[in-house]
Amino acid sequence: MQNPAASPPYNYRVVRQFTVMTVVWGIVGMLVGVLIAAQLAWPWFNFETPWLSFGRIRPLHTNAVIFAFGGSALIGTSYYVVQRTCQTTLAFPKLAGFTFWGWTAVIVAAAITLPLGYTSTHEYAELEWPIDILITVVWVAYAVVFFTTIARRKMEHIYVANWFYGSFIIAIALLHIFNNLSVPVSFMKSYPVFSGTIDAMVQWWYGHNAVGFFLTAGFLGMMYYYVPIQAERPIYSYRLSIVHFWALIAVYMWAGPHHLHYSALPDWAQSLGMVFSLVLLAPSWGGMINGIMTLSGAWYKLRTDPIIRFLIVALSFYGMSTFEGPMMSIKTVNALSHNTDWTIGHVHSGALGWVSMITMGSLYVLVPRLYNRQAMYSVGWINTHFWLATIGTVLYIASMWVSGVMQGLMWRAVNPDGTLTFSFIQEMEERFPYYVVRLLGGIIFFAGMLLMAWNVYKTIREEKNRDGESNLAEA
Ligand code: HEM
Ligand code: HEM
Repeated sequence: MQNPAASPPYNYRVVRQFTVMTVVWGIVGMLVGVLIAAQLAWPWFNFETPWLSFGRIRPLHTNAVIFAFGGSALIGTSYYVVQRTCQTTLAFPKLAGFTFWGWTAVIVAAAITLPLGYTSTHEYAELEWPIDILITVVWVAYAVVFFTTIARRKMEHIYVANWFYGSFIIAIALLHIFNNLSVPVSFMKSYPVFSGTIDAMVQWWYGHNAVGFFLTAGFLGMMYYYVPIQAERPIYSYRLSIVHFWALIAVYMWAGPHHLHYSALPDWAQSLGMVFSLVLLAPSWGGMINGIMTLSGAWYKLRTDPIIRFLIVALSFYGMSTFEGPMMSIKTVNALSHNTDWTIGHVHSGALGWVSMITMGSLYVLVPRLYNRQAMYSVGWINTHFWLATIGTVLYIASMWVSGVMQGLMWRAVNPDGTLTFSFIQEMEERFPYYVVRLLGGIIFFAGMLLMAWNVYKTIREEKNRDGESNLAEA
């Protein structure tokens, strides 16, 4: 068997750094998620401490899971995939090393400033201007490393995973710069150059495409490499993957206004956002089908290989959340779902079911290769992790769906004389049991992440695979 880790031309150092930190940031981000879930059920978990209060650590959670956990996973896997599929070493190794330390510095700065209350107030773009400048520098360095590696490839063809990673890099650069255009008034305070409705529109153009390119396109790049590798099958349809790519990136950019239904945004723009969101169902499902059907002829692997289970269940959650999203973008449906826990359920069916599970599956494929091992230390633990992740996700999203729909219905219920049937506080009280179930789901999901960390640690530390089981397919 070819031993990829021993191939001298490849630069695995920076991939290893990002991979290990993905696991570390996953634990940190999800732990904060568990804490804010507990605060929503029992507010005394704020401990009457300003820097532990919900308003400050909620953005810490979102930044940690999206940019620290998700970002490290994306940059790390993209560096691996681009080298392997271009059959060349990573360009500018020092610059690649800088992207790791620079990105880590951004995350540490976020972990300090957000609990201290520094925020630009734009969701998913809360970091203040000095950190934004650092992000820009790191991102440009990342783009230079990635695209130069592609330019130096040893083969004519650019594998589709690189198209997805590449679009993620370009789109995030564009979004980050425009949504953070602001005028600094002091070291840690700035005001956006846009105001009012324009500010809201730019923010949700950013916000939705952060979902589209950070939480979707990048992870699809991961999917297009690691699913075929682990299934030991070529991708189901290469043609479909090209159609999927162009359709997805052409449509995503226009769907942002679905976050601003019934707002001061012109009505036509809201409807445009809705229509593009509905169209988005097709390319999204094209990608899901392409991934799942890659298993054609090898379905039995679902029974025997827990890593395949991770990858395929992730794709199923991707399909679910990209069905739900277009439905929620229909104005009349959004009238019920907006600002309720339904949105939170939708977010986490994408975030836990899709983003986290595709990352976990891919890392289980990647880690033994990076450290020259036959397989992960314990395949049984991967299986246990799979069930913890699946049960945790289902408890989280099902409780939020029920709570969200109930919330929306209670808010709009009116008596025959036109007065509200329920007070806000009554509705809040009804939500309590669902918040406890969500917390339980979060704890279970988090426990799985801890098990993964232990498995990764043991894999790296143990020289030989414990029982000789192999999950290593030819790369
Ligand atoms: C143990 C796992 C997790 C738990 C317990 C958890 C819990 C929470 C809670 C309680 C909220 C606040 C909800 C509210 O304000 O009503 C939240 C928000 C959020 N979480 Fe998580 N989370 C977890 C994992 C993740 C992961 C892995 C991601 C992304 C990859 C993620 C992305 C988000 C986002 C984007 C929001 C903001 C949603 C919005 O504003 O609509 N979470 N999470
Ligand atoms: C076809 C694909 C999708 C469409 C059309 C879509 C549509 C929507 C809609 C309509 C909302 C509610 C907006 C509101 O009422 O405020 C929403 C919220 C959200 N979705 Fe999706 N969604 C899609 C896929 C996904 C995926 C795959 C993820 C995660 C990986 C995701 C993450 C989010 C987040 C984080 C929010 C909350 C934003 C916020 O208010 O803070 N979406 N989405």
